Amino acid sequence: MRILHLSDTHVNGAGQPFPDGVDARGCLTRMLGDCAGVGPLDLVVLSGDVTNDGSVSGYEFAAAAVGDFARAHGAAQVYCMGNHDARSSFGQVLGSGHHGVDGARLGTPMPSADGERAAVSEVAGYRVVTLDTLVPGQVHGWLSDAQLAWLGAVLAEPAGRGTVLVMHHPPVIVPGNPVHRAVMLRNASMLADAITGSDVEVVLCGHFHQQLTGRLGSATVVVTPGVVHRIDSLALPRSERAVRGASATIVELGHPESPVSYVLSGHDPRSGEVAYEVSVSEIMNELSGLEGPDVPSRRD
Ligand SMILES: [Fe+2]
Ligand SMILES: [Fe+2]
Repeated sequence: MRILHLSDTHVNGAGQPFPDGVDARGCLTRMLGDCAGVGPLDLVVLSGDVTNDGSVSGYEFAAAAVGDFARAHGAAQVYCMGNHDARSSFGQVLGSGHHGVDGARLGTPMPSADGERAAVSEVAGYRVVTLDTLVPGQVHGWLSDAQLAWLGAVLAEPAGRGTVLVMHHPPVIVPGNPVHRAVMLRNASMLADAITGSDVEVVLCGHFHQQLTGRLGSATVVVTPGVVHRIDSLALPRSERAVRGASATIVELGHPESPVSYVLSGHDPRSGEVAYEVSVSEIMNELSGLEGPDVPSRRD
């Protein structure tokens, strides 16, 4: 199984650039163009923050761009919810978030009274599960008891070749990073319990906009950098510095060394230019004051 893992496209409905000049639609279009020669794929994953504003037209733009690319490479497509996404418009445009090679909607959605967008499908003999870690109005993630129970039931029966989990908020962090700790999946240990003893091989996440790998139980967690920008790890731990330049990750399953992953860096001529920089203390203040539906100006 060969996967192109994208995340954090942050496209918006109106299509205008962000105040810092970053053009999210242009970033996605350019990154997909850069990936044109990447070779055959089984699956294209977009692991949340598909849109920045939850707009229907933002989802339509992303679905058209990613859909055309996936079909050209013989790949299915899977999308999951991020903290910037909206469940209603996500469902209106993307359905369960699982699409076949022909673009037809696949996937069995989890029944949810709260409208959570979790679903499961089969791609190339693997079970692919998307989870919805959104906490409306907040930057951190959480998996509801209902989703954890549903996941446990799904995983009770082993899949043909193994299971791929896709979710926005990482359950692993850079040790000692206070921002990661504040905005991660807060009930990571409950997810670890849910997948222990199962055939989950890899967990694909976004949200941090920086490359990171770690372990959750017996599974490998792969966090891919953002498409809209990447976080410059050289600025940590003093500040969060976002720099221009899209990235994606190839994940290869089914080899003796798997899961193997490697980052693809796009050819943005302005790559490395600072988009914004915020001190860690400012971020922590902003997060501690976040009580209502407002979201920070940052694009985590
Ligand atoms: Fe996010
Ligand atoms: Fe993001």
